[in-house]
Amino acid sequence: MSAPKTESDSTHSQSTWSPETWREKIAKQQPVYDSPAELNDVLTRLAKLPPLVTSWEIENLKRSLAAAGEGKCFVLQGGDCSEDLDECSTESVVRNLKVLMQMSLVLMYRSMKPVVRLGRIAGQYAKPRSKETETRDGVTLPVYRGDIINRSGFTESERRPNPELLLRGYERSALTLNFIRALCAGGFADLHHPENWDLGYASTSKEASRYRDLVQSIGDALRFMETVADASISQLERVDIFTSHEGLHLTYEQSQTRPVPRRDGWYNLSTHFPWIGDRTRDLDGAHIEYFRGIQNPIGLKVGPSMTADELKSVVDCLNPKNEPGRLMLIHRFGSEKIADCLPQLIQAMQQNGSNVVWCSDPMHGNTFSAENGIKTRHVRQIENELLSAFEIHRSEGSVLAAAHLELTGDNVTECVGGARGLKEEDLKKAYKSQVDPRLNYEQAMEISFLIAEQLQQNS
Ligand code: PEP
Ligand code: CO
Repeated sequence: MSAPKTESDSTHSQSTWSPETWREKIAKQQPVYDSPAELNDVLTRLAKLPPLVTSWEIENLKRSLAAAGEGKCFVLQGGDCSEDLDECSTESVVRNLKVLMQMSLVLMYRSMKPVVRLGRIAGQYAKPRSKETETRDGVTLPVYRGDIINRSGFTESERRPNPELLLRGYERSALTLNFIRALCAGGFADLHHPENWDLGYASTSKEASRYRDLVQSIGDALRFMETVADASISQLERVDIFTSHEGLHLTYEQSQTRPVPRRDGWYNLSTHFPWIGDRTRDLDGAHIEYFRGIQNPIGLKVGPSMTADELKSVVDCLNPKNEPGRLMLIHRFGSEKIADCLPQLIQAMQQNGSNVVWCSDPMHGNTFSAENGIKTRHVRQIENELLSAFEIHRSEGSVLAAAHLELTGDNVTECVGGARGLKEEDLKKAYKSQVDPRLNYEQAMEISFLIAEQLQQNS
């Protein structure tokens, strides 16, 4: 590990920051509301509401991320591409948690390392889009930007950016988080009872039986340990699940950014871990300006257009004190580009002495349109990008500390391939995502066994 950087290493750290200095910069991907008065009224109401997370939790996550950066634990970040206000239900929260729990159990058992669970959940409501408008049958409307901004239905009123949705998104995030916290504290997350995480519909799949075999071994090992120690291993009765979302909608993020007693600086209290998307990471843009000033651990998506010099400047700006655990670089190049893109960026970070936590997102560089026009991803390419990521980090002497996946416990058909060999013709059967295609339960489990093997190789 290298020495902390001094203030003079970064020009950005010398300029003053406040939660609204981003307004002086160009902010990409922001909705235009037709009534500023209506927006201001909502923002005033939002700013008064209690926070969703606390600075203690945020600092704990930062410490865990620092440990992950040193290879002491692994971070599993996963969930929907975009949450849906109407899908905020018992079933969907439970299903997504079950997959995260099962996957993390596989990873822990095989790697013998703790796993930090970071959901794309409880706030993942704003989406960057490639076009401003969408045209269907000669009718052009504003593009859908996520449920916190407008709705996916193709009518003028649904596509109008509606400030009230900011409140609905905040409330759904609170409801989701409340349920997650109650489940985790109340026995659902007890490692002694992994049967709580069974997904009924998937019980006959090959991945489920592979998982059940593993659960059987874990149960035996736990019972053995407890018999020998003559006590229950109580730390295994609860786990933490942290939340994350893309901090895209800066007006919303600002309304949740607050000072806290007895700590320095400002915290974004809407989530433990906000990240900057690949489309809004311009060094001089509003997103970097907002993110540089908050105390949370943060993510930065890094796509193929990122150069080594640009990365150095962005990293120095976002983490001027070179704090371990502060910054996760989430690379998403695509299985064909990763070998060309990643090594030079790792080398740049090593030369710069930067403490960063490396994460592979094998989803966003591998999206393509199937013959029938449906947006999909192939499990094989996702696996290939992950395998390359592990291999490249190994050969460059750095640590791949995390994986970032779009997945659901719902029985969807959005990505092709996988053990069941889902074909392009199958996509229509249960394609529910409004935005990017997610791994279904079996595909997600398959990926977790693959990551587990890689972690085993590393240890
Ligand atoms: C996403 O994570 O859903 C996303 C839009 O990713 P990226 O910024 O990597 O394109
Ligand atoms: Co996505």
